[in-house]
Amino acid sequence: MDDATVLSIGDSFCKDYNTQMSFYMPEPAAEVKQVFRKKLVSEASAMQNIEEGAPESQEFLEFFAGSGLVAEGLKGFFKAVWANDICEKKADVYTANHDSNIFHRGSIADVRGSDLPPANMAWASFPCQDLSLAGLAGGIHASRSGLVWEWLRIIDEMPKRPSVLVAENVIGLVSGHEGRHYKALHNALVERGYRVGSIVLDAKHWVPQSRPRVFIVAVRSDINVLSDLVTTGPTWLHPKSVQKAAQGLSDWIWWKLPEPLPRLKGLSDIIEWDAPFADESAERRNLALISEKHRKVLEAIPDSNVFVAPGYRRTRYGKQVLELRFDDLAGCLRTPEGGSSRQVVVIKKDGLLRTRLITTREAARLMGAPDSYVLPGSYNDGYKAMGDAVAVPVAQWLAKFLLLPLVRSHGEC
Ligand SMILES: C[S@@+](CC[C@H](N)C(=O)[O-])C[C@H]1O[C@@H](n2cnc3c(N)ncnc32)[C@H](O)[C@@H]1O
Repeated sequence: MDDATVLSIGDSFCKDYNTQMSFYMPEPAAEVKQVFRKKLVSEASAMQNIEEGAPESQEFLEFFAGSGLVAEGLKGFFKAVWANDICEKKADVYTANHDSNIFHRGSIADVRGSDLPPANMAWASFPCQDLSLAGLAGGIHASRSGLVWEWLRIIDEMPKRPSVLVAENVIGLVSGHEGRHYKALHNALVERGYRVGSIVLDAKHWVPQSRPRVFIVAVRSDINVLSDLVTTGPTWLHPKSVQKAAQGLSDWIWWKLPEPLPRLKGLSDIIEWDAPFADESAERRNLALISEKHRKVLEAIPDSNVFVAPGYRRTRYGKQVLELRFDDLAGCLRTPEGGSSRQVVVIKKDGLLRTRLITTREAARLMGAPDSYVLPGSYNDGYKAMGDAVAVPVAQWLAKFLLLPLVRSHGEC
């Protein structure tokens, strides 16, 4: 198979540097690209090596804290002084990896702002089910995603509102209902005395997972925002959906962040190659669901190579299929609560096609969590804990290049 064939395959094929690095490339193209890759790696590591243990650690409140990947990403920049989530299983993950003394399990509806410690920032990765298509898009006032209003109620109850607020969610927040969900939240933040901008960061820039997410960053109007942090119009952070949602909004800010250098690892670099495969009947079922077109791609890979293609079982035209991708990226991890199936990998090894579910450690790696990140409980608990989390390096990037400079420009809370 030549490069052109590889590049033309796959439904959601992405022709970026990493795609071109797919490791079944024939020699000598692979050698040449390896040299190119090494050069990029050394250049990237200089810029992309996010400082650990930055000199300052600002305080933040973590709403909908889940399995703690936001706290993990913000480490060194921000220290969580209070965290909340309702889910017992997620609480187990959070407290196994972070300070259990600051974690308060229970419904956000029972939290009072007057009871919270002061902090410069509050982060809310509020439930996405009513904003994602899988959740049938009930919207920002529906029961689950509507919990964001409880967050704002709590902010109102605080003796002093944090200087920076961050809300994170799926793209449907800006793209759904012609941006109406986003506008409602934007205006609510403006009414509370904040200036607001939203950006989209896709985890695929840092980890081999396609995971675009919206980050709404609001800064209290009395904060003097450094000119380096803003720009006058859309950048790589503002896809059409954001630009459209921003139209006509008051107190909108075009945030500015540096663009990351090419990602260093593909899916094939984080796979647990020795993990056990599914039982025979499950494997047979999965293999039978692969389309003719995708099967041909798999067959064309030389038997001497190892290769991985991830996929989801979906219903297309009334028929179940296992939809694979061939760009060395995993599809977006999801929580099974959203009605989605779990991600499967098809592995070609020694000329044989094998299948299994993605492992919890692979899921954690796809979220950028270190291998030391503890995932207590069953396979399903671990998969669920990672499925609706925030990718660690995305939170890091945002903290380093926007959130920390913003709160620093304010000083003490
Ligand atoms: C999108 S996830 C947040 C994930 C988290 N930021 C992370 O990185 O793991 C939304 C979270 O909201 C929590 N949640 C749902 N209803 C809640 C409620 N009434 N009160 C508090 N938390 C709730 C869920 O348990 C879930 O962990």
